[in-house]
Amino acid sequence: MMVAKAVAGTKKFTRKNGFFDQNVPGQGKMAQMKLGRNDKCWCGSGKKYKQCHQAFDTKIMRIAEEGHIVPAREMIKNPDQIAGIRQSAKINIAVLDYVAEHIHAGMSTEEIDKMVYEKTTAMGGIPAPLHYEGYPKSVCTSVNEQVCHGIPAEDVILQEGDIINVDASTILNGYFSDSSRMFCVGEVSPEKKRLVDVAKECVELGFKEVKPWGYLGDMGQAVHDHAYASGYTVVREIGGHGVGLEFHEDPWVSYNSRQGEEMLMVPGMIFTIEPMVNMGGVEIYVDEVNDWTVYTEDGMPSAQWEIMVLVTEDGAEILSY
Ligand code: MF3
Ligand code: CO
Repeated sequence: MMVAKAVAGTKKFTRKNGFFDQNVPGQGKMAQMKLGRNDKCWCGSGKKYKQCHQAFDTKIMRIAEEGHIVPAREMIKNPDQIAGIRQSAKINIAVLDYVAEHIHAGMSTEEIDKMVYEKTTAMGGIPAPLHYEGYPKSVCTSVNEQVCHGIPAEDVILQEGDIINVDASTILNGYFSDSSRMFCVGEVSPEKKRLVDVAKECVELGFKEVKPWGYLGDMGQAVHDHAYASGYTVVREIGGHGVGLEFHEDPWVSYNSRQGEEMLMVPGMIFTIEPMVNMGGVEIYVDEVNDWTVYTEDGMPSAQWEIMVLVTEDGAEILSY
């Protein structure tokens, strides 16, 4: 069970606070719009509905009638939006590449924050975390037993043997991208190295399950099973999310899900896969002072990689990593 003090701090990243309550078949705003065969399609293509998304909608409706959770139209990005999100992701990737080149023992996480701010803005972007829900910095830097949302600071100095997650998110022309990587500072213990490697494998195995007309639970179970088979646990309260037109959109993405369950994946959906893999127990808590930083309850290390994926007509594509 989640400790009470964690509840307030998990903000928009949990399923239970109303932000992710729209995962109900046919409940999206645009789902109410009934279109005639010759009307213009809802997707913005300019084509007639019958020549565009009508067959697609019929298929989704049939799957919903079978009892599955299906995406609302708002979750399906059109080609212009995908192009914009792709450009945003280019900056996000460049920012993480830049961090990878310069991260070293002895530097503060505040310096990482500066690098992220400078690189993002130099490329024309805005760091999405800055002032998001009151978040004070441009990036999250989560060290060792910090699970996520570590806040960069002058007095957090990277030590040889640390593992750190750097989670970058970018806004470009109103389009959002989001991904994170782990870095090992100097020589780390074999135990921590293995945790970092397994967390990455979890994301890769999850990604293999992303395809149109599959279910988010196919991905979630692959992530979960690999982590637990490796002797680790996966944080339950905080998940991935739709992304692109907002920082955090529906659906909420769990790794505590089963094959064939959760939302149907269809072409045009964009979401993150970002499991937090704990070396020890699954329990977490949120820093009571800053109300952001999440820690493992038992103080054991946690690792997270995050990719942003697009479901395509014939599979899936990683947009940011
Ligand atoms: N980038 C994180 C995610 O993966 C969210 C960080 S929100 C912030 O969803 F405000 F803490 F930056
Ligand atoms: Co994310």
